[in-house]
Amino acid sequence: MSAIEIENMTKSYGRFVALDKLSLYVEERDIFGFLGPNGAGKSTTINCILGLIKPDEGKIRVCGIDVEENPLEVRKICGYLPENYGFYGNLTAFENLKYFSEFYGGISRDFIEELLALVGLSNASDKKVAEFSRGMKQRLGLAQALLNDPKVVFLDEPTNGLDPQGIADFRNIIKELQRNGKTIFFSSHILPEVKEVCKTVGIIYRGKMLKVGKISELGGSLAIVVQTEPKADESLLKKFGKVGYDEIRDVYVVEVERDCRIELSKSLFENGYVVKELRLREPRIEEVYFSLVRANEGVNSG
Ligand SMILES: Nc1ncnc2c1ncn2[C@@H]1O[C@H](COP(=O)(O)OP(=O)(O)OP(=O)(O)O)[C@@H](O)[C@H]1O
Ligand SMILES: [Mg+2]
Repeated sequence: MSAIEIENMTKSYGRFVALDKLSLYVEERDIFGFLGPNGAGKSTTINCILGLIKPDEGKIRVCGIDVEENPLEVRKICGYLPENYGFYGNLTAFENLKYFSEFYGGISRDFIEELLALVGLSNASDKKVAEFSRGMKQRLGLAQALLNDPKVVFLDEPTNGLDPQGIADFRNIIKELQRNGKTIFFSSHILPEVKEVCKTVGIIYRGKMLKVGKISELGGSLAIVVQTEPKADESLLKKFGKVGYDEIRDVYVVEVERDCRIELSKSLFENGYVVKELRLREPRIEEVYFSLVRANEGVNSG
């Protein structure tokens, strides 16, 4: 079943088209990474899904519930960590969560304690939020997003301000939430992080969805990294694919259609080269991201 379904969503601010016929499908229990540069439309999309902003056109369903028809039902099953959130500085972490839990009703003190433990704030439960570091506030924000035990959790750039330990903890929490049956939708600019936790990613650019799929299915080129002694003649490598040269590492990078290391090493050997390095490089998410963004640069500007 689908957790999130968006069909042809469009949203304009005056004449500026922020979201342009955006469609998206997120499977239940997926960890979906929503990638895109600043201003691409990530936060706008999340706000539309949650019914906080009304799109001009398009259909949005969360766990089968139509957002336009039943915004409150959708809010009940969603959790949301916004980009900028407000906590009461003069209240403690626990008091803040208690305060927000009143909106939902029926949330026990034990559950709040459990959430504080989950995000690693048990020791700071009675500390005033005004004295929190940015990373601590971010952790509290995640606890707040989980107060209603949501089915679908939206996290808008959740690792902003977290230290490496915080990022690693966060990753584990996300994976645990997913194991417990939740669907996670999170936006990020941090490509390696997305690669680490997400099963599926979507790349948004200037309000358009450029690509959605499993990371392994996103495409991008396979390459063979080659170093020989003496340095091989480029024309020999060209028979196998497009050749680039990495000056820093002093290696050739040959973009190939398939793994042809055996033929390549044979050819190098026959031409008198000693192979120092011959390594297959899988497509990288960075490569897919930048090549898509580059290909779309200027396409729908203005
Ligand atoms: N209330 C608004 N009025 C006018 N334009 C807006 C408004 N909100 C967003 N925009 C514009 O819509 C576009 C998408 O904004 P959005 O905040 O969704 O981007 P984003 O992908 O979340 O970016 P970031 O990575 O910086 O958070 C931007 O160009 C932004 O300037
Ligand atoms: Mg944003």
